[in-house]
Amino acid sequence: MKKLYGRSLLHWFDYTPEEINILLSLSHKVKREYHQGKRPQRFRGQSIALLFEKRSTRTRCAFETAFGEEGGHPVFLSTADIQLGGKETIEDTARVLGRMFDAIEFRGFAQSTVETLAKYSGVPVFNGLTDTFHPTQALADIMTIQENFDSLEGKIVAYIGDGRNNVATSLMIICAKLGIECRIISPESLQPAKELLDQIQACCNTKTVVSSDISASQGADVFYTDVWVSMGEEEKSKERLELLRPYQINQEMMSRYGKAESIFLHCLPAVVGQEVSKDVYEGPQSKIWDQAENRKHSIKAIMLAAMRGKA
Ligand code: CP
Ligand code: NVA
Repeated sequence: MKKLYGRSLLHWFDYTPEEINILLSLSHKVKREYHQGKRPQRFRGQSIALLFEKRSTRTRCAFETAFGEEGGHPVFLSTADIQLGGKETIEDTARVLGRMFDAIEFRGFAQSTVETLAKYSGVPVFNGLTDTFHPTQALADIMTIQENFDSLEGKIVAYIGDGRNNVATSLMIICAKLGIECRIISPESLQPAKELLDQIQACCNTKTVVSSDISASQGADVFYTDVWVSMGEEEKSKERLELLRPYQINQEMMSRYGKAESIFLHCLPAVVGQEVSKDVYEGPQSKIWDQAENRKHSIKAIMLAAMRGKA
């Protein structure tokens, strides 16, 4: 097994199921410690650059608080502050940041940017969301599922909505790695690309179901959705709303196809009334606030493993 120390997290294809399970155990452990009031200062003397081309509440706050409360120094840098890809190439920015920071987080548009940062900086780089992947989100999602069920074995996750977006993609990969059946339910034009499904098939021995029929969510333990229009796609708003209207997760859908113990997840932020109805969002099956909190603990686990070798 490859060591987690010094590793970047660009997407979950690079990680084995054993490595993902180590990160999950560590996530639960650091959550317990946090609620016991423990702040062990494991990042004392370290610094991380937090690069954001796109807006964020959860991801930014998770990295800043998780790192800062344990003695580390997080430095937030939006593209209004630094030269990234503007007056300076991404390669050169990476080389400079790598000389000054112990790690880098990047949120932005192109997956190639986070990969270039990892290639040239010489320090661990964490993908805080690109157009293609959102891997730290997926770890918090699985952590939340574990909190609600005795075991992941035999569990079915139905993701209903835009099946091509970053959240759907990372969820599909992590589920496949961990042997969880993931069902992507989307209109045909928003279904995952064949190349991605082939890559998942090649890496993992788990079935990913793709359907345009909402009845494919029958028996799901988890009903998951995300916004219909992701950051950077605003001009597609009208078209998406029309296309995805039949795919709203609402109480009628969950009662018809789910079970009493099924849970609702959403990476947030949400547009309540579009991808999810208010009754489900605010209802007893919704675990979205735990899921949001778990971003912090799972991101702390990722940083501890990569920066301190604590896994
Ligand atoms: N889920 C998530 O990534 O939230 P933010 O956009 O607020 O970081
Ligand atoms: N798919 C969404 C996720 C936000 C956390 C977006 O990219 O805007």
